[in-house]
Amino acid sequence: MDTLRRVFGKSWSSNVRLDGKTAIVTGANTGIGKETARDLAKRGARVILACRDMMKAEQAVREIVRDTGVVGVIPCQLDLADTKSICEFAEHIYNSETSLHFLINNAGVAICPYSTTADGYETQFGVNHLGHFFLTFLLLDLLKHSAPSRVINLSSLTHTMGRIHFEDLNSEMSYHPVKAYVQSKLANVLFTRELAKKLEGTGVTVYAVDPGVVNSDVTRHMHSSIQMFVKAFSFLIRTPAEGAYTTLYCTLTPDLKSGGYYSNCAQTTCSRAGRDDRTARILWMVSCQMLGIRWR
Ligand SMILES: NC(=O)c1ccc[n+]([C@@H]2O[C@H](COP(=O)([O-])OP(=O)(O)OC[C@H]3O[C@@H](n4cnc5c(N)ncnc54)[C@H](OP(=O)(O)O)[C@@H]3O)[C@@H](O)[C@H]2O)c1
Repeated sequence: MDTLRRVFGKSWSSNVRLDGKTAIVTGANTGIGKETARDLAKRGARVILACRDMMKAEQAVREIVRDTGVVGVIPCQLDLADTKSICEFAEHIYNSETSLHFLINNAGVAICPYSTTADGYETQFGVNHLGHFFLTFLLLDLLKHSAPSRVINLSSLTHTMGRIHFEDLNSEMSYHPVKAYVQSKLANVLFTRELAKKLEGTGVTVYAVDPGVVNSDVTRHMHSSIQMFVKAFSFLIRTPAEGAYTTLYCTLTPDLKSGGYYSNCAQTTCSRAGRDDRTARILWMVSCQMLGIRWR
């Protein structure tokens, strides 16, 4: 089975220790995020599990502590669908932490029925892009102060099907769950590219990650036939621990190219739309306007 999995993604390991380092992983109560948090904790990092559901977060912390014997794993409330919650989370981090070396923007909602965030944005664009955009904005001073530090944005190969629909970013005129998801994942790539430029010379570097096809809870909103298909062919699909490899690669490997797109533990080329600097700049400005922030 492992051999089959490796057809789709190579195995990867590293001995790097992270004693004295602090990481935030969003959406760390399950799936790729939980496995990322588990690995970072095993390396000695202090890991903050930023989750919207504190019961699930505490359960994940108990599981990681039980399995690894480490202690520096902390649950913390963060709802990326609510800018008030993002502000409160950031305030808590500034009050409780003196440094932040890794911000792993992992949380995501995929192919869900139409809904909006507390601030009125379509949920997939609001959580996957705007929520992480705002979180990064708020935590940037701490990341700069802790440099060298890294921001890692979970995107997806599906970004290649995406387009930024400036005429209807919020899907108010028409909503298609796949179209909204792939738009949000393209936005992750464009955000990474533009942020890397703005952070040149600061010691904060940025990476976009495609984790591959991973057997996680990501299908929860999808049609039952897709869920059954995934279950039936799960032996071909990466486990969440394998899905975390490229995130960990971007967290731990020295001298990677900031602003790049990484898949299968290597830098690779993203779609042409993901390399469109003009779209990246406009998306940045529009995102700032939507969030009511000045970030140049
Ligand atoms: N699995 C794949 O095949 C695949 C492929 C390409 C890209 N990705 C990307 O990889 C990332 C991780 O996905 P996964 O497969 O691990 O999915 P998952 O198992 O569904 O985990 C998603 C995580 O995001 C959290 N989340 C959702 N909405 C949130 C919100 N408003 N505020 C805070 N946290 C929120 C979820 O919390 P709850 O449990 O409380 O809902 C959960 O912890 C996502 O960005 C996804 O787009 C996954």
